[in-house]
Amino acid sequence: MEKIIIRGGHRLAGRVKVEGAKNAVLPIQAAAILASSGNIVLSNVPLLADVATMNQLLRFLNLTVDFTTEKHQLVIDATAPVSSEVSLEYVNRLHASMVVLGPLLARTGHAKIALPAGGVDGSRPVSLQIKGLRQLGAVIEQQDGFIEAHADHLVGQRICLDFPSVGATESIMMAATLASGITTIENAAREPEIVDLAAVLNKMGARVHGAGTDVIRIQGVNFLHGCEHVVIPDRIEAGTYMIAAAVTNGDVVVEGAIPEHNAALIAKLEEMGVTVIRQDDGIRVFGTAVLIPAAIQTLPYPGFPTDLQPPMAVLQLLANGTSSLAETIFKHRFVHLKELRRMNAHFQLNGDTAVFSGPTHFRGAEVAATDLRTGAALVLAGLVADGLTQVQNLQYIDRGYYHFDQKLRQLGAEIDRVDRDDKNSQ
Ligand code: EPU
Repeated sequence: MEKIIIRGGHRLAGRVKVEGAKNAVLPIQAAAILASSGNIVLSNVPLLADVATMNQLLRFLNLTVDFTTEKHQLVIDATAPVSSEVSLEYVNRLHASMVVLGPLLARTGHAKIALPAGGVDGSRPVSLQIKGLRQLGAVIEQQDGFIEAHADHLVGQRICLDFPSVGATESIMMAATLASGITTIENAAREPEIVDLAAVLNKMGARVHGAGTDVIRIQGVNFLHGCEHVVIPDRIEAGTYMIAAAVTNGDVVVEGAIPEHNAALIAKLEEMGVTVIRQDDGIRVFGTAVLIPAAIQTLPYPGFPTDLQPPMAVLQLLANGTSSLAETIFKHRFVHLKELRRMNAHFQLNGDTAVFSGPTHFRGAEVAATDLRTGAALVLAGLVADGLTQVQNLQYIDRGYYHFDQKLRQLGAEIDRVDRDDKNSQ
């Protein structure tokens, strides 16, 4: 089993380059299903396990997918007849698989997708997506472990989301591009990834207006075609390196990071005494020896992102006093804290709020990632811990961070990725 081993205590310094955004490219890959002529050519595509899984899913649906990894370029051809059934294998490996429901329905009039664990209202619910697609005229049933949707033709409607769900906004927006008439999505998610998806759809011939605001208006068209697009930088990867710089009291330029996409993070870093400089080529972060405690609440964009909550908890734990972190997006997204406790973190959990007592003197320990962002948080804690930290379950980290250990090593961290079995056999 592979693991990352870190000897803490090194200040990070230098430059690190951000990859294309995982959460932008996944729905854009799904949008390719809508193009009945021409190729979708995507550049700045990150080399991540989730992207590879989505490629496999698209191939399963009879699309031709050509990924030139050296060039980070993905070419998707959806001109052949598209099949409409997605098996559990993909849904289990990639929650974002569910986002193909909207484009499949719009392109083929039919979609049959294995139900995610826990059903439509499980730990990662999709009920808002289903409700919205029904409003567009789809007949959707759940049976035998599948969601099956049919629509002879979709008709534009006014849809008001109960919550600005990213996945629901994306799936409904994609379906509406080929519906007749006008669809408005109110209380839409406003994430930069939604704006990037809308940009691609418009290049494909769609008429989407208002992405990035809470009302998106889509005028349906008859067909969509191929286009070229450069994927936006990954604001969560960028934010993770910004926090890593602050955690180690370092001096790091995060190349390619867009300050506006991380405004909430920048505000909190500055409140904690960290210096953040907006540069033409990215964001420079200087740490501070004494961190000021801060109260943070995760919120839909442009609020503080839930995906940066686990790494940010490490920084809050290092602050000189009491900090708090309220998680309002995903219930129980505090698994990382239990692992951080093994590393000497002290905190109290009051429902969905964690209260930290700092400054923490992290101690190296054997810990295990339980999801992607937990993995990032554990590695960041290892960077400042006394002694050795060993992080297991790297398959989670690989879902969202390309060469995480190598990039941190280039910044001066003492970090290695090893295969324990190989080591033992030597
Ligand atoms: N929700 C519902 N009902 C729904 C849909 C969502 O109650 O029908 C709730 C969820 O339970 C959750 C909240 O709304 O509490 C947010 O869910 P959302 O649908 O907005 O998230 P998502 O589309 O499933 C995307 C990202 C996540 C990120 C969230 C929130 C992708 C592929 N995934 O998920 O990214 O945490 O938005 O920003 O875009 C990650 O990268 O580590 C990751 C988990």
